[in-house]
Amino acid sequence: MKTLDTHDREEFEKRYRPPQGVSAVDWLKKIHGEQLELCRELEEIADSLPAEVNRQKCIYAAKAIGPLTMGAHRFEEDVLFPWVEQNVTGHPELAATLERLKFEHFEDECFIEELIDALLRLGAADPTLNAETIGYMLRGYFVSMRRHIAFEQDHLLAMVSERKAA
Ligand SMILES: [Fe+2]
Repeated sequence: MKTLDTHDREEFEKRYRPPQGVSAVDWLKKIHGEQLELCRELEEIADSLPAEVNRQKCIYAAKAIGPLTMGAHRFEEDVLFPWVEQNVTGHPELAATLERLKFEHFEDECFIEELIDALLRLGAADPTLNAETIGYMLRGYFVSMRRHIAFEQDHLLAMVSERKAA
């Protein structure tokens, strides 16, 4: 993302590191919960196209998506993944898995600017916006986000819990 304004930065900082006393696993679950909630909002927007769009909801989603996505990615890549690399053993595929997850983060980050712009234009009732195109973009985003989160929950968190139980 090109720039985060002051409000965005505060929102980003809130998610970047777990507060004192909150485990990385619980923090990831909380962040995933927020991301899934955003996916639900984006699905509602996609379903409301072209005639029933709640413009306020589009602007809210456009403002939330950057800090939420960037906060989640920085936390995972700077805090969680290094911990996993150092502490999880017995999973030879781990390095390749983490590389793939990082690549998916990178792809998301490349895509969200375009999505934010489209949501802001939708929120402003821009008549040049093609409803089919934005519907396609929204669905592409939340489908891949849900798949990514499901994988992290089913595989990554399972490995971490296994290690903590050992
Ligand atoms: Fe992730």
